Amino acid sequence: MLKIAVANEKGGVAKTTTAASLGAALAETGKKVLLIDLDAQANLTLALGFDPRTISYSNANLLMNAIPVGQIIQSTPFKNLYLLPSNPQMGLAEQFLPIHQGYEFFLRNTLSSLQSSFDYAVIDCPPYLGAVTTNAFAAADVLLIPTQAEYFSIYALQSLMNKVKQTREQINPQLTYRLLLTLFDKRNKIHRILREQLHKNFPTGMFETIINIDTKLRESAIAGSPVIYHASRSRSAVQYRALAQEIIQYVEETKALQPA
Ligand SMILES: Nc1ncnc2c1ncn2[C@@H]1O[C@H](COP(=O)(O)OP(=O)(O)OP(=O)(O)O)[C@@H](O)[C@H]1O
Ligand SMILES: [Mg+2]
Repeated sequence: MLKIAVANEKGGVAKTTTAASLGAALAETGKKVLLIDLDAQANLTLALGFDPRTISYSNANLLMNAIPVGQIIQSTPFKNLYLLPSNPQMGLAEQFLPIHQGYEFFLRNTLSSLQSSFDYAVIDCPPYLGAVTTNAFAAADVLLIPTQAEYFSIYALQSLMNKVKQTREQINPQLTYRLLLTLFDKRNKIHRILREQLHKNFPTGMFETIINIDTKLRESAIAGSPVIYHASRSRSAVQYRALAQEIIQYVEETKALQPA
């Protein structure tokens, strides 16, 4: 199982949209995918058509009360796609996790028990770098950082890069990262300039796929159905499928590097 954490402390950069769309695009290829909603806003849970108010157990119970993961996992209406849901109790997890010794590794330990049950785990993080996001960074193989081609978004990458460095030093030396340009408008000159700047600053750290602005993504979140299913032929569906292919290729390349 490859574990991908979708994170950025900047709000509204398409973390949740990317987790839902990429997860669905991977599932569509026949891979078994576990989506993990770590945000108290529960947007990923909503985007898959669940009502967080009616969920009896969420990731808050997983992290704080050690409720077995099997009691929390939900199957979704979409083939090969499963969900570890969130609800507002995740706010309590953020607050109280740090009183537990070794709390950074709670998610990693849970996922190690699921290692052979799924091909991919895609973790949606809240828009801050607190105790819950630290759990995601400790558990992940790859950090997927959605970013907009806006000055403030690029500025915010600095503190994220510090967090990556600290994570590698302290809890997860193997962690790699890739940036994904989202909400891109190619008619916007600033967007084009900042895209070039990002490519210069992160020559090997960016996905080739870029996600353009597409209103179908907003509609699909409201419909509770990932864009891959909601608007199968839309531009964003095509782009998220291309992103899934880049990730599948990445897994094959890293496998080839490992001794048999
Ligand atoms: N490529 C896109 N084109 C148009 N709208 C988009 C695109 N990507 C995301 N959106 C919309 O932008 C808004 C923010 O996206 P999203 O909720 O995925 O961001 P986020 O980073 O998860 O936000 P938060 O930091 O609050 O968790 C949503 O309304 C979403 O539907
Ligand atoms: Mg979100």
